[in-house]
Amino acid sequence: MKKGIKILSLPALSILVLLGFYFFNAESSDSSDKGPVQPIPFSHKIHAGEDEIPCEYCHSYVEVGPNPGIPSVKKCMGCHQHIIGRDVEYDFDGKTINIKNEIAKVREYWANKEPIPWVQVNSQPGYVHFTHKRHIKRGFECAQCHGDVASMDQVHEVYRMNMGFCIQCHQENAKDEHELAHLRDCLTCHY
Ligand code: HEC
Ligand code: HEC
Ligand code: HEC
Ligand code: HEC
Ligand code: HEC
Repeated sequence: MKKGIKILSLPALSILVLLGFYFFNAESSDSSDKGPVQPIPFSHKIHAGEDEIPCEYCHSYVEVGPNPGIPSVKKCMGCHQHIIGRDVEYDFDGKTINIKNEIAKVREYWANKEPIPWVQVNSQPGYVHFTHKRHIKRGFECAQCHGDVASMDQVHEVYRMNMGFCIQCHQENAKDEHELAHLRDCLTCHY
């Protein structure tokens, strides 16, 4: 394992390896976190659910890059230039909002030429290598990792995507021994 030497030069490796085995055995657990407070309450339930806008329409890079990307205000304005919204109340995860007022905020960001400062929901530590492309090409659904986003107002973490979560699926889906060894190799996810 020549490549292993590279990681061996990192500090505190022995502790890391022990921790690694701990995480290796850890079960992925359901997360009950309801997600961060966003600058605008943006409902996936309305957009991806009721209006059936495909995930890829907004997360355009999911099949071509490591990260799907968050849509720009320009993309929102493709609709909200015309759709100013009904003047009705909506129960957004237990908080009453007015549809028209919230859409007005989107239009305000656009008028001010400012990006909407969305707060990140999922994030892996920098030492973890993850790419969407390989997983999507292999045929996995968004829901296998993100849960049923189309039924959520505020998107939130459904599964704690820790090392056990990743490795369990790698073990279950490897085509053969050779791929299994690769998908369990520390250096596949850490380099
Ligand atoms: C109309 C555009 C739009 C559509 C359609 C859409 N999304 Fe999103 N998505 C967003 C925006 C904007 C955010 C950032 C705000 C937020 O996190 O609520 C986001 C955030 C997310 C996040 C959290 C990102 C993070 O920070 O980790 C996930 C996961 C996600 N979307 C998955 C999906 C899935 C799965 C679908 C299809 C079922 C979908 N989205 C459809 C606009 C969209
Ligand atoms: C394909 C068209 C389309 C796109 C693209 C789109 N929306 Fe919407 N949006 C709608 C429709 C339709 C409604 C419902 C309006 C109503 O009920 O009167 C809506 C409602 C909303 C609302 C009020 C309900 C809620 O979600 O809280 C907000 C806020 C909103 N949109 C923000 C955004 C943002 C931000 C983006 C870009 C990331 C975006 N929209 C992109 C069609 C779109
Ligand atoms: C195999 C698991 C897996 C699948 C399948 C998956 N995701 Fe993700 N997604 C992740 C992980 C892990 C992250 C955090 C990535 C990071 O921090 O680098 C993430 C992050 C995201 C983000 C935020 C990243 C950004 O660009 O800011 C969005 C949006 C997202 N996923 C949407 C989707 C959509 C849409 C699909 C289906 C087309 C999908 N994901 C399928 C695991 C997955
Ligand atoms: C739903 C099942 C599933 C989950 C969950 C999953 N993976 Fe994967 N992953 C796969 C499969 C199967 C492949 C092989 C894809 C291919 O190359 O065809 C793969 C491939 C990869 C690769 C590319 C390996 C290479 O050849 O370079 C990386 C890196 C990776 N996964 C990291 C992760 C990380 C990190 C997580 C957790 C955040 C994760 N995966 C979660 C099933 C999964
Ligand atoms: C399929 C991808 C994958 C493989 C293979 C993998 N890891 Fe990880 N590892 C992760 C992810 C994802 C995290 C981040 C966990 C979190 O955020 O809770 C992580 C975290 C860690 C951590 C940090 C734990 C902490 O304190 O947060 C160590 C140490 C580690 N891995 C070691 C290893 C070792 C050693 C191996 C080989 C036996 C290995 N990993 C194989 C995905 C992987």
